[in-house]
Amino acid sequence: MVLAKEASVASGATTRPRHVAVIMDGNGRWATERGWPRLVGHRRGAERVKQIVRACPDMGVDWLTIYAFSTENWKRSTEEVLGLMKIFRRYIEREAVGLAGEGVRMRFIGGRERLDPKLQGLMAAIEARTAGNTRLNLTVAINYGGRDEILRATNRLAQKIAQGEISSATENDLSDCMDTAGHPDPDLVIRTSGETRTSNFLPWQAAYAEYEFTPTLWPDFTPDHLAAILDRFGMRDRRFGGV
Ligand code: IPE
Ligand code: IPE
Ligand code: MG
Repeated sequence: MVLAKEASVASGATTRPRHVAVIMDGNGRWATERGWPRLVGHRRGAERVKQIVRACPDMGVDWLTIYAFSTENWKRSTEEVLGLMKIFRRYIEREAVGLAGEGVRMRFIGGRERLDPKLQGLMAAIEARTAGNTRLNLTVAINYGGRDEILRATNRLAQKIAQGEISSATENDLSDCMDTAGHPDPDLVIRTSGETRTSNFLPWQAAYAEYEFTPTLWPDFTPDHLAAILDRFGMRDRRFGGV
C-alpha cells in the first residue's frame, strides 16, 4: 500500500497522479436524453475508454483503473446485463492486439465465477498476453464491489493465518490479499455524471485518494476533460494527516 507523496509524480510545476481510477457513469442517461436505448450509451462509453486509455501514458498516468460493472449492476434488466457482457467481450477481442502492441498491461479485478466462461477465458488470455507490458497498467473492474473484495481478501488472510504463514496481520498483508495486490493506491478517483457517491468502488485502496466529481456524462468525457482534472490535481495540497 502506498500512501506517501512519492505516489504522485512531480512534472514541472505541478504534480501528476500516478494512479487514476474512474467511475465511468452516465452512459444510460446519455442515451436516454437522445431517445436511444441505454446500450447505445454503453457502446459509446466503450469508445471513450479506448480514447482515454490511449491518452493516459502521455499525461504521465502509469495506472488507470476503471469501474465497468459493479456487484450491484446485476440488478439491471437481463437485456442490459447481457448487452454489457457482450461489450466487454468485444472490447477485449478487438483491442487485444492493439493494447498488447502499445505496451498496455491489462488486468481485471472483481469476482470472476459469476461471469460467462467465454468472457473469463478472454480475460485470462489478455492478462497473460500483456503481462510483460509496462507503459500503462490498465485495470478493469468487472463484477467488482469493494465490500465483496474485502470479504474475499479477509477469507484469504484467515487461511494464511490458519496455515501459520502470518501470525498477526498488518495492513500490507490485507492489501496483498486484495484483487489489487501489487497496484499502488489510487491518487485520484474521478466520477462522471454528477453523482457524488463512491458506489462501492475501491473503499480500501482509495482511503486517501483525492476525488473529482464532474457533471460530464461518460460518453462525453474526452482526454481534454481528463487533462483539466489532472491540472487541478496538481494544485491540491495532499497532507496525509501531516501539517
Ligand atoms: C455507467 O453508466 C455504466 C455502468 C454502470 C455499467 P450507467 O449505466 O450507470 O448510466 P446512468 O447512471 O444510468 O446514466
Ligand atoms: C457505478 O455506477 C458502477 C459503475 C460505474 C460500473 P452505478 O450507476 O451503478 O451506481 P449508482 O447506482 O449510481 O450508485
Ligand atoms: Mg449510473
